[in-house]
Formats: sequence, C-alpha cells, structure tokens
Amino acid sequence: MTVPSAQLVSKSKTLVLLVDDQVMIGEAVRRLLAPFPDIEFTATQDAETGYSLALSRRPDVILQDLMMPGVDGMEQIIRIRANPDLADTPLVVLSSHSDAVIKEQCFGAGANDYLVKLPDALELVARIRYHARMGRAQRDRDRAMRALADSQSELVRRNSEIDAANRKLFAMNELLGEESQRLAEVGALGTKLACAQDLNEVMDQALRLARGFTDADAGSIWMVETDGIRLVYTQNDTLESALQPGQRLPLADVVLPRDSTSIAGYVASTGKSLRIDDVQHLDASLPYHFLSQVDAQTGYQTRSMLVAPLRVRDEVLGVLQLINARGRGKVSADVAVFTPGDEAALELFAGMASLAVERANLVRGGIMRLIATAEMRDPTETGAHVQRVAECSVAMYDKWAALHNVDESERFRRRDELRMAAMVHDVGKVAIPDRILKKPGKLDDVEYRHMQTHSVLGGRLFADANNSYDEAMRDVTIHHHDKWDGTGYPGSVNAAMMAQLPVEIDTIPAAKPLRGLEIPLFARIVAVADVYDALTSKRAYKEPWTAEKVTELLRSESGRAFDPELVDIALELEEYFRSVRVRFP
Ligand code: C2E
Ligand code: SIN
Ligand code: SIN
Ligand code: FE
Ligand code: FE
Repeated sequence: MTVPSAQLVSKSKTLVLLVDDQVMIGEAVRRLLAPFPDIEFTATQDAETGYSLALSRRPDVILQDLMMPGVDGMEQIIRIRANPDLADTPLVVLSSHSDAVIKEQCFGAGANDYLVKLPDALELVARIRYHARMGRAQRDRDRAMRALADSQSELVRRNSEIDAANRKLFAMNELLGEESQRLAEVGALGTKLACAQDLNEVMDQALRLARGFTDADAGSIWMVETDGIRLVYTQNDTLESALQPGQRLPLADVVLPRDSTSIAGYVASTGKSLRIDDVQHLDASLPYHFLSQVDAQTGYQTRSMLVAPLRVRDEVLGVLQLINARGRGKVSADVAVFTPGDEAALELFAGMASLAVERANLVRGGIMRLIATAEMRDPTETGAHVQRVAECSVAMYDKWAALHNVDESERFRRRDELRMAAMVHDVGKVAIPDRILKKPGKLDDVEYRHMQTHSVLGGRLFADANNSYDEAMRDVTIHHHDKWDGTGYPGSVNAAMMAQLPVEIDTIPAAKPLRGLEIPLFARIVAVADVYDALTSKRAYKEPWTAEKVTELLRSESGRAFDPELVDIALELEEYFRSVRVRFP
C-alpha cells in the first residue's frame, strides 16, 4: 500500500506575513521576532501586495493592520476569508487602538485574534505559535476528512460497477438456461462478496467461497506489489484441523518475483489461469516450477492446483490459488484433481472477487491515508502498529464470538467493522501538538492530560456516525482507553457534550466513569490489543518489555484495566500475537 505522506509533512518553520502600511511597525516586529529561530518573517506595506503574498507563500499566520490607505484592513480580512485557499489561514489583527466595536467587527469578519500595537515579544510569539498550530491541526483534520470523503465517493462508483457485473451475469444466466445452473450459483456467491468492506474480510470470504464450490482443501491469495507478488492470505483445512482449540495458523511471509518462474507468478504476469493435476510432476518444458517454500514451512504437501488471476479491467491485482481438490474429480485413491468445470466457475468468480478486492483496497487506502495523517505526526504510531492491533483485535473477537455462539454472518460483518475501527483507534493524535506527541521522555501531568484528548478528538471525526462502520470507529476511538474498573478515560462522553467542545481542547471534558460491560465490546478488545502492542514495542519514551513481563501485566490488569474474559482470550492467543509481529515488523 503506498501512502502519500510526503505532502502531508508540515513545514518546520512558521512563516509570518505582516501587512501594515507603516514601515516602522514592520521593522519593529521584525526585531521582536528575530531572536526566535522557528519563525520566518516577511512584511509589506501594501494591502494588494499582502494579498498576493498570502496566496503565493501561504503563511502560517497573517498579521493584519486595520487602518490602511486603499484597501483597508477590514476589507482585506473579508477578502481573505472569501478565498477558499486562504479561508483557514489564521489571521491576527494588529490595531493601534482597542475599541470594542471594531474588535467585534474584526471577529465577525473572520479574524482569529486581535492585538493592540505593539505587543511585547513573548506575547506576540506565543500567539503566533498558538495560531500556527491551530491552523495546522485544522488543515490536517480537513485533509483527513477529504481523503475519507474521496474514497467514499469512489466507493459509490465501484459499487455501481459491481451491480452492473451482477446484472450481466443474470442476463447471461437467462441466455444459457439450465447448463448455467452452477455458474449462476457462483454468481450469487459473488454478490455475497460485495457486502464486505474490509480487504481481509473480502479475501477470507472469497477464498472460503471458492474453496466451497470447487471442494478444495486449501487456498492462498497473492497480491501484486511493487517488488513482486506477496502471499497475503491462506486457508488450509488439513493444517487448521490439527491445531489445538484456540490456536490459529501462523502468517507466513513469502514474496515471489512477478514472472513466469513460479505458478502464482506465471498467473500474475500473464493474466492466464492454470489448472494443474500434480505440481510435484510438472513437465520440465513448462516455464514455471512449483516452489515448495510454503510447503516446506508448513509440512503440507501440495498436489493439484487451480489458479486464476484477480483482474480488474486490464490490470492484474493478484492471484487466487486453490490447492488440493478433495472429492469430485478423484482419479485414484489419493489423487483428486480440479475439473474444467471448476476452472470455468473459478474464472467467473475471480472476476467478481476482483471487483470486491479493488473496492476494499480503496476503503483501506482511505483509512491508510487517514492514519498516515496521524502517523506522520506521531513517530510511535507506525502503519505496522495499527496493522498489528487490528490483526490481534480480530483474532480476539473471533474467539469471543465462538464462545458467545455468535452466528457466522454476524461474525463476518462485525469482524469487518472491528478491523477498520482498530486501525483508526489513535487517529485523534493528529490534533495533538508535536511538542507532546514527539516528546522523547515521560509526559508531565499537563501534557498527559492533553494527550488524553486524542480519544474524544478521534471520536469527533465520526460524530455523525450513521452506519455500523462509523459507529464502530467512533466507539473504538473514544473508548479504547476506558478501563474495566472505571479508572480510564474519557468515560461516558455523549454526543451532546462532543458537539459543544471547542475546536481546540487541552483536556478531556469531565464525564461519569464508564466501567465493565458499559464499555463497548470493540473498545474493550482494542484496549487489550493496543496495550499489548505498545508494551512489546519500542517507543520514544520506553524500551520494549519482555514477553514474561507483558504476560504478567495482562494477568495483573485482568479485572482492573481489562475485561477478564478478554485477558484469558489474549493469553491463549499469545503465540499468534507473536506471529503477527513477525508478519508486520
Ligand atoms: P501508546 O504508546 O500507543 O500506548 C498505548 C497505551 O499502552 C498507553 O495508554 C498505556 O495504557 C499503555 N502503555 C504504554 N507504555 C506503557 C508503559 O511503559 N507502562 C505501562 N504500564 N503502560 C504503558 P496511555 O497511557 O493512555 O497513553 C496514550 C498515549 O499517550 C500513548 O500511546 C503515547 O502516545 C502517549 N504517552 C503516554 N505516556 C507517555 C510518555 O510518558 N511519554 C510520551 N512521549 N508519550 C506518552
Ligand atoms: C507457487 O509456485 O505458486 C507456489 C509457491 C510456494 O508454494 O512457495
Ligand atoms: C503517564 O502517566 O504519563 C503515562 C504512563 C503510561 O504510559 O502508562
Ligand atoms: Fe490511544
Ligand atoms: Fe495505539
């Protein structure tokens, strides 16, 4: 996944533009600001020049005089606010008198602050830094929201493509009549796929469905990446049935070149599907060979294979690989093969799965951009951290759901929501100032209280949640630091309180503690997965803990910070958690 983070990196210096007709004021402010290396200063005496400088240089803060010849200060403010490119630039009025009426007019026109000339250096610098920071936080938030909105509108478009594909299939079905019975069934399965939003859930479901209608023992999905094709998903009934209850298959990390030397590589590079009766006895004249890398890691033996490209328009996104046919095409006691009918059905199904994969990729892309916005501000939150927290959260939910007899379709839907919510749990950090977020040492009380606002600030992004995905994201962003015994934060904040919060806050609003089962399930799950991952990671302010210490903390926080049932689940999954770290280092 490529994440466009370069353009998100904020400027290191704060650029201040002063527009004041008196040369003396310009010089005086320049002298005031000179000792502060983080501030770059530029001034002009002319309103017109000031306006074009604002457009070309995009200052972090504009200092604007009121009484000027030509365009006066008030008109200038109105003009700046009316330009969408400048509407969010913090603007501070520098005036020679403090008249309440004028002041009010300035704020009414969109000024952010009002200072009487000349303020002392420390006050001026403090205000400049404050407004620059507010402006940046606002821009980061806007960017994140736009990224999300863009991916949403793309989604609507892709959804209509999926609908069109379904209609085509339906029409084809009518043409072919009886014979197409199987294809029609496969088509109906494809429609089922369109319901999943998250990439992993789409892959899980696609593989399960394809293995179902071909009766395959195992299967893999490979995705095309810049450096080759990566094994991103596997299922294997034989290996899974040998696991202890509660265990999961470890995630293998395999990347192959995208060329015809391997089976999956051949399909990815040519876009053609393959049906192979026995990979152990391939004709030597074939360009591809069976690379037994995965078998060697797992001790499994691959024989028959059916492999189809996941292709959208002319682009191959990945490869769907089915392994070891079980029943239908049995040729002898121990070798079963896939049939030409299986191949036709898989090709059709792969076409539909591709659309769902592409669509899920878009959702994931939108979320990754959102995270990137937070991440480039926070050196401790890496893409890998959110992937790990999501992976571990979903594994915990799966066990929880099995224990609570949640039915498969509900489980499938909820997992999808949880994965996305877990990935954005810390997105509110985008609004935390760098001096706190990037502090190498321990936070003091004031800083820590400010840090805690990332919970409600994140939740605010999903305040107008009107679907189960947004609701899950809201629950998790807000409540992932609430604790089972009621000592966590932010407690039971409600929508009305959130709506009344000012844009910039440095402490969470007072609220009744939230405890036990009052905390949403997903937030209770992510709380465990997040702390587990934070403790096993190196942070700017701490070294990674040993596995024993982490286990000990989970045990001792059971019933205090964490839901005891979820601690038991996490402890059973520890080995899987470790393999997740290997997969997303
Ligand atoms: P994070 O680093 O992702 O940590 C998430 C949670 O893991 C923390 O939530 C805390 O519950 C737990 N955790 C992390 N490190 C430790 C540790 O050394 N000991 C214990 N007992 N628990 C730990 P919390 O405390 O609400 O912090 C939220 C976020 O605030 C952290 O996310 C981190 O970004 C920041 N933060 C917290 N304390 C400090 C600090 O002392 N210095 C800095 N620079 N940042 C901090
Ligand atoms: C393949 O050649 O596609 C299989 C790769 C592997 O099993 O390592
Ligand atoms: C703090 O009290 O500053 C946070 C400690 C922690 O990381 O748990
Ligand atoms: Fe957090
Ligand atoms: Fe976190």
